[in-house]
Amino acid sequence: TFVVGEDCINCKHTDCVEVCPVDCFYEGPNFLVIHPDECIDCALCEPECPVDAIFSEDELPADQQAFLELNAELSEVWPNITEMKEALPEAEEWAGKPNKLELLQR
Ligand code: SF4
Ligand code: F3S
Repeated sequence: TFVVGEDCINCKHTDCVEVCPVDCFYEGPNFLVIHPDECIDCALCEPECPVDAIFSEDELPADQQAFLELNAELSEVWPNITEMKEALPEAEEWAGKPNKLELLQR
């Protein structure tokens, strides 16, 4: 499966959802997640993210392992998103900032 990681938090560009053939992205207030049971590992979304927030499960950085569980958990409760929309207003400012996990809104 593919996993949305920390760099998405407070950016949420949503380019990723536009290309997913199985519409398996789910949207929270300041982050998106991928449903691990629905993702078909096509890898189309990974290069679309302007902040490189998406990883194959096998390549998820060691310090982002918590996002594996977060994608699984939150994709069960958040609504599906299938169309691109405006990025969050402060997306540029937050791009690449460290330690954003604590800012995740549910
Ligand atoms: Fe969707 Fe493919 Fe990305 Fe999985 S790898 S979330 S199926 S675009
Ligand atoms: Fe997030 Fe990147 Fe998609 S910032 S919403 S994973 S395009």
